Amino acid sequence: MLNLLAMPDNKVIVVSGGASGIGSEVSTRLAAEGAFVVIADLNAEQAQAKAAELVAAGGQAIGVACDITNPDLCEAVAQAAVDKYGKIDGLVNCAGISKPHDSISLPPADWARMVDVQLNGAFYFAQAIAKRMVGSEKPDTGGAIVFITSTNAEAAFPRRAAYCCAKAGVAMLTKVLAIEWAEKGIRVNAVGPAYVATEMTQRNIAAGNVNEGQIKARIPLGRLAKPADVADAVSFLLSDKASFITGHSLYVDGGWLAYGYF
Ligand SMILES: NC(=O)c1ccc[n+]([C@@H]2O[C@H](COP(=O)([O-])OP(=O)(O)OC[C@H]3O[C@@H](n4cnc5c(N)ncnc54)[C@H](O)[C@@H]3O)[C@@H](O)[C@H]2O)c1
Repeated sequence: MLNLLAMPDNKVIVVSGGASGIGSEVSTRLAAEGAFVVIADLNAEQAQAKAAELVAAGGQAIGVACDITNPDLCEAVAQAAVDKYGKIDGLVNCAGISKPHDSISLPPADWARMVDVQLNGAFYFAQAIAKRMVGSEKPDTGGAIVFITSTNAEAAFPRRAAYCCAKAGVAMLTKVLAIEWAEKGIRVNAVGPAYVATEMTQRNIAAGNVNEGQIKARIPLGRLAKPADVADAVSFLLSDKASFITGHSLYVDGGWLAYGYF
């Protein structure tokens, strides 16, 4: 049985990329806090399995198929959330891909796909959700959006040109939407992790794209982030405890971005 902490009003939160990694942990956390969770993921089967896991644990959740690069599908998922639960209070955009590649030979299609998933998709989904948010017609009662960005929104890594540029774009999107949608009562923030111990990171380690020992040595707190560290920050930014915070990027990085020594 989940530890239900009774989030006020049984908030309805849509989580893109909620079938795995950070999104999966965020979904578990939000359900445990009493939210009704809509898990939207490219992997429909895994999204439904995750929702079933949350329901079996005493929570409320549905899993739906979505490719966030398709605006029509984003609209359909947002509407499905309203049809099922009557409203939407929050969005956590976790969907993402990682495919490091030398810039000199990066195929244009790979550049385009990265920007499409990480930046365009973030906008399409936020737009579809915001149109239907409880706050959109009622300032002060509003909704909250959290984009998962990365330390790569601020710090350049080699072989990650498209990823870094797309994440930096989402950090700016966070600010623009925050100031534009404030009058609708919608807060927009970002959480930017350094390396998190997820399947995405394991795939990058296995592919030789990153070295786990080097990562730990580069992070002042000396470890990778846990998905739960990211879920803590997301839960805070969605909650009323963050009711005067908008347009902010919160880096969950163990001190990575602060570190400028050898
Ligand atoms: N893992 C890390 O170290 C790390 C660090 C910083 C930022 N991030 C970011 O966090 C987010 C989640 O990463 P993760 O490690 O949990 O990855 P993950 O691969 O474990 O999960 C990503 C999920 O997104 C889904 N997805 C991919 N493309 C999609 C699309 N077009 N539409 C809908 N769903 C899609 C996948 O099916 C998967 O379930 C990503 O945006 C990633 O860039 C990850």
